[in-house]
Amino acid sequence: MKTKDLTQVALTIAIIIVLGLIPAIPLGIIPVPIVLQNMGIMLAGLLLGPKKGTISVAIFLLLVALGIPILTGGNGGMAVFVGPTAGYLIGWLFTPLIIFILNNLAKKMPNKLLYYLIMWLLILVVDLIGSIGLSVQSGMQIKIAVLSNLIFIPGDTIKLFISIVLTQKIKKFV
Ligand code: BTN
Repeated sequence: MKTKDLTQVALTIAIIIVLGLIPAIPLGIIPVPIVLQNMGIMLAGLLLGPKKGTISVAIFLLLVALGIPILTGGNGGMAVFVGPTAGYLIGWLFTPLIIFILNNLAKKMPNKLLYYLIMWLLILVVDLIGSIGLSVQSGMQIKIAVLSNLIFIPGDTIKLFISIVLTQKIKKFV
């Protein structure tokens, strides 16, 4: 990796960490809060692509595993990987790759609406992986876990839209 790549990876990890400083919104009905940190994960994939994006997220998750309290709410440690949000963390690791695959498909679309619709599948995939994790770790019925995750769709859609627009603007200057 060149110095430029290392700098980009370090900056992206910093963005993910900073977004984790914004307090979560607890939902009560499920032990998974609304967070802004997943927008940093989306930005990692959109800005850096599959390789550097995955490296950034992997390093971030490694730091979490080592016990550094950089998840939203100051969480960290191995326990989060067997907790109710473990599925989302797995989904986060694959987010840059999923973005890469979807973007290759989406950019062939004849209009912006279809482009965003294809990219939006990211949200469905990650929230589905998260639901499976939630069901496994909390014993909740998979149907209930999936249905309760619908609550994340509007917010995650907005985060994805902002991330795509931001990335397009940043890439124009860099
Ligand atoms: C953690 O801090 O342990 C991970 C939290 C995961 C929250 C997920 S990410 C996808 C969905 N959208 C949200 O705003 N919250 C959940």
